[in-house]
Amino acid sequence: MSDNRIQIFDTTLRDGEQVPGCKLNTEQKLVIAEQLDALGVDVIEAGFPVSSPGDFKSVEAISKLVKNATVCGLTRSLQKDIRVASEALQYAVRPRIHTGIGTSDFHIVHKFQSTQGAILERAYDAVKYAKSFVEDVEFYAEDAGRTDNEFLARVCETAIKAGATVLNIPDTTGYCLPHEYGEKIKYLKENVNGIDKAILSVHCHNDLGLATANSIAGAINGARQIECTINGIGERAGNTALEEVVMVLKQHPDLKLDTAINTSMLYGISQLVSDNMGIFTQPNKAIVGANAFAHSSGIHQDGVIKNRETYEIIDPKDVGVTESAIVLTARSGRAALAYRSKKVGYDLTKLQLDEVYAKFLDFADKKKEVNDNDIHQIIETSKIYN
Ligand code: KIV
Ligand code: ZN
Repeated sequence: MSDNRIQIFDTTLRDGEQVPGCKLNTEQKLVIAEQLDALGVDVIEAGFPVSSPGDFKSVEAISKLVKNATVCGLTRSLQKDIRVASEALQYAVRPRIHTGIGTSDFHIVHKFQSTQGAILERAYDAVKYAKSFVEDVEFYAEDAGRTDNEFLARVCETAIKAGATVLNIPDTTGYCLPHEYGEKIKYLKENVNGIDKAILSVHCHNDLGLATANSIAGAINGARQIECTINGIGERAGNTALEEVVMVLKQHPDLKLDTAINTSMLYGISQLVSDNMGIFTQPNKAIVGANAFAHSSGIHQDGVIKNRETYEIIDPKDVGVTESAIVLTARSGRAALAYRSKKVGYDLTKLQLDEVYAKFLDFADKKKEVNDNDIHQIIETSKIYN
């Protein structure tokens, strides 16, 4: 794999599914996993097998189904978790165990009442044990975002010594600023002995709305795997949105970082996940929101009609959206009305447009959005047109 290739690790079915009130059954998970595999993600984190019999069954079924992506199961740094994950993953073409432990003082002191030395030992033992089942072991340092960099480097070295192939540096609480998180990744790249034997992975949460920016900062500074979910779903404010990081990299060839994602599937898979999880996607959501390619003010509409790129940095077709929408409201101008009228079959002369536009404004002031039927009605009842 080229040095500039960013691996996409999708955790919609594990971290994403931790959304309150959302539960997917195995059938739904299989449908989503199949689409993720077709989308071209490198890794599908299928679940947390020890957490419930249902999750075990889903990870096992996904392992049997998926042919291209690596299938991954999450564990704590406990032998039972790791053994159960290895059983759930036994049919996977490319199995990965994702094990780890909290490394910030919040976790060491308050959660585990432990010491840094004991955490290093647990990290080593967990990776070593996971290695007895699979070759590909990813280690996560939970709350790495708030972990002191020097200690984090020792944790990473320990995991590498035990055989970890990927080092996940989660900003579990979504606290880091992009420059700070980027520097953390750079520090690890430069200060961890044996770092060439593993790749660094970024896993960011969105508590301050910075998950995408932090993930990109991590990639710019040397991370080669991004962990993310479709629509950015996940606990609290969610995870890094897959569609966002993928499109940032695609729209910025200057970064010289690419993925293997078939971006034309992004809109469809966003809808699939939203429908199955029963979680509505906000209209202004970047890339896949209903308004991501909709223009409603007259100035913007005029610009887009003349040249789409005036107000659009992404070709909607690139993400699976047929075309930009020119939404007619009381803020729309003549250009938008002429454009939409033509689309529904009326090629208006300048004179006709003037009369129809006056009627349109009257209509639009009373209604939020003017649709195709309204346009027919306005035009057909205009004197000058008939
Ligand atoms: O956010 C996090 O720290 C996680 C780990 C369990 C990987 O999801
Ligand atoms: Zn997480």
